[in-house]
Amino acid sequence: MVKKVLITGAAGLCGSIVSNGLIKLGYKISSCDIKTSPSPAAKALKIPLSKKIKKIDLRKINKVLKITKGIDAVIHFGGIPRHKPHEDVYKNIIDHNIVGTYNVFEACRINKIKRIIFASSAHIMGYHNRKKKLDENSAFRPDSHYAVSKCFGESLSRLYSDKYNIKILNIRIGSALPKPTDMRFLSTWISFRDLVHLVDVGLKSKKLYCSSVYGISKNKRAWWNNKEAYRLGYKPKDNAEKFSKDKLTKNEFKDKIALKLHGGVFTTDGFVGNIANILKNN
Ligand SMILES: NC(=O)c1ccc[n+]([C@@H]2O[C@H](COP(=O)([O-])OP(=O)(O)OC[C@H]3O[C@@H](n4cnc5c(N)ncnc54)[C@H](O)[C@@H]3O)[C@@H](O)[C@H]2O)c1
Repeated sequence: MVKKVLITGAAGLCGSIVSNGLIKLGYKISSCDIKTSPSPAAKALKIPLSKKIKKIDLRKINKVLKITKGIDAVIHFGGIPRHKPHEDVYKNIIDHNIVGTYNVFEACRINKIKRIIFASSAHIMGYHNRKKKLDENSAFRPDSHYAVSKCFGESLSRLYSDKYNIKILNIRIGSALPKPTDMRFLSTWISFRDLVHLVDVGLKSKKLYCSSVYGISKNKRAWWNNKEAYRLGYKPKDNAEKFSKDKLTKNEFKDKIALKLHGGVFTTDGFVGNIANILKNN
């Protein structure tokens, strides 16, 4: 049974929400982050930090090995949470997301940790046609270097579950926010309580081997079929539709290409591709 849980990226938005939520559910939480003050996203939403956060840089394998000793499960949120301008790709995405994630999985193998929850992203599906409903088996179609780093994490998950017998849940988070503020989020939103519940399912489910699920609430306008999450025991309480009458921004609506694809504006940032070919090959 999972009792002692390490959360990476614990000073971040999702890390703080999930740490606080899991403590209430009775888990013993260890928290780490490269910084001990709230991330810009957590600060903007005034999310309280959970408990004492240990300063650990995931790029340093020795530190990750130390902090994962005696832990039952790791929830891996630490990393760069979004697409960044191209000049930052090598410095940020490769170091923090690819090397950092590799170090977390390797430390879990060496320290015989039985479960990992990996914060993936729905942007790994970015270049799929929005008219198509996707599920857990849809092919990767990443829309950014950031999304490629999440594909790398999901590939590590397959290797570490098959070869090293670690149970792994990849949560392809849509938009974790207090409530939807843009039209897009009516499809992609996950409420904080549903996120905590989905992580709890990942820590407890006896049916888990290695699964990828979508981190969304039970949204009426969802673009993703989340049957794998339901099979594992996910029972979301929230639906973005109750905010559909709110004054929502329409950030994607100026961008005709973004509106055709799952990844929205991530797909058109720096885009010199051919939308007709993308849709023909979808
Ligand atoms: N919030 C969302 O809607 C959303 C959507 C899709 C995916 N995700 C994923 O969930 C995770 C958490 O996202 P968030 O929104 O909470 O972002 P966030 O920026 O608030 O939190 C990320 C945390 O990771 C830490 N971090 C970065 N590099 C690190 C390193 N080398 N070592 C240790 N810690 C490091 C940061 O300091 C930060 O506190 C990310 O991996 C992100 O890609 C989030």
